[in-house]
Amino acid sequence: MNNQRVLMTAVGSYLPANVVTNEVLSSFVDTDDAWIRRRTGIAQRHLVAEGETTADLACNAAAKALANAGLTGDDIDIIIIATTTPDNTFPSTATKLQHMIEAKDAIAFDIQAVCAGFVYALDIADAMLQSGRGRRALVVGAESFSKLLDWEDRTTCVLFGDGAGAVVLELADDAGDWGICSSVLHSDGAYRDILYVDGGPSSNVSVGHVRMEGKEVFRHAVEKLASVMDEALSAANMQARDIDWLVPHQANVRIIDAMQKKMDLPSDRVVRTVEQHANTSAASIPLALSAAVDDGRIKNGDVLAMEAIGGGLVWGAALVKFGRPS
Ligand code: UT7
Repeated sequence: MNNQRVLMTAVGSYLPANVVTNEVLSSFVDTDDAWIRRRTGIAQRHLVAEGETTADLACNAAAKALANAGLTGDDIDIIIIATTTPDNTFPSTATKLQHMIEAKDAIAFDIQAVCAGFVYALDIADAMLQSGRGRRALVVGAESFSKLLDWEDRTTCVLFGDGAGAVVLELADDAGDWGICSSVLHSDGAYRDILYVDGGPSSNVSVGHVRMEGKEVFRHAVEKLASVMDEALSAANMQARDIDWLVPHQANVRIIDAMQKKMDLPSDRVVRTVEQHANTSAASIPLALSAAVDDGRIKNGDVLAMEAIGGGLVWGAALVKFGRPS
């Protein structure tokens, strides 16, 4: 029986060179290392250099993912960048990336689902490949989130960082149970005021800054991520014990720990990068995935559970059997 599915065959990531520790941050923000570590688990973040853009981060991550897949830009049919911090309002950062990696025949576009952007982009790419729009897609989460921060607001500016991660998706015949097993997305605009940016082209012609009611977002995160993970497991006919690795959005280690407990997973089956990367929005899942593949924890054939929530609110989860059948 022909079982066509979308495989996740390679991953790559990139972090800007500039590392800002909590101690350094405390020299110009009214905060301290102990508070940030205790409330969030964050120790440091990478920030873009002057002149370094989201497209540059995306290009570095994409080039590594393509090299790891043994492919070039020519092989890619679809490029999707999940970002809230595009280089320009238009054209999309994805078209810029298309040009940079010389993916001449690809279609390219950005999607906007803030911190849930990667799981949204994965779902869109999966649907497009399954419906015959191409054989290979590059899905990238890339953010220069520091550009949206109000450095006078200690309740938000300590939380975020910059970076990019990319995965290669390939349509495969007779894939068995490999590849994207399920993905579930949700949105609820009733909560758009608890996490947002106070600017935009059509509202006040400005870029704006991140504003957040942290406690409210935290409450929704724990509840909604647990529930959407149950939906994704049920859609894939799986149980939490079938998961090899939880690769969650990296916003707060307390949210990650709560998910680990709800799923009853051993702590060493959860990828945590929030300490080093902080919250890189749409880039956080592919950055965490890349770190765990690079250091040998995640192996070909491992079953991954990914989940994220962001401003909107928007949230989702995806289950993937990583790699390709050998
Ligand atoms: O990726 C999108 C999803 N985003 C998230 O998931 C974020 C979810 N929310 C959170 O992670 C947490 O709510 C925060 C980390 C943002 C905040 O932690 P919290 O435990 O909810 O703290 P809080 O906002 O209730 O603030 C507690 C205290 C306050 O002081 P008072 O009023 O108790 O005297 C704050 O003013 O901590 C103070 N505070 C700080 N102190 C030092 C807030 N920010 C800081 C800071 N440094 N950076």
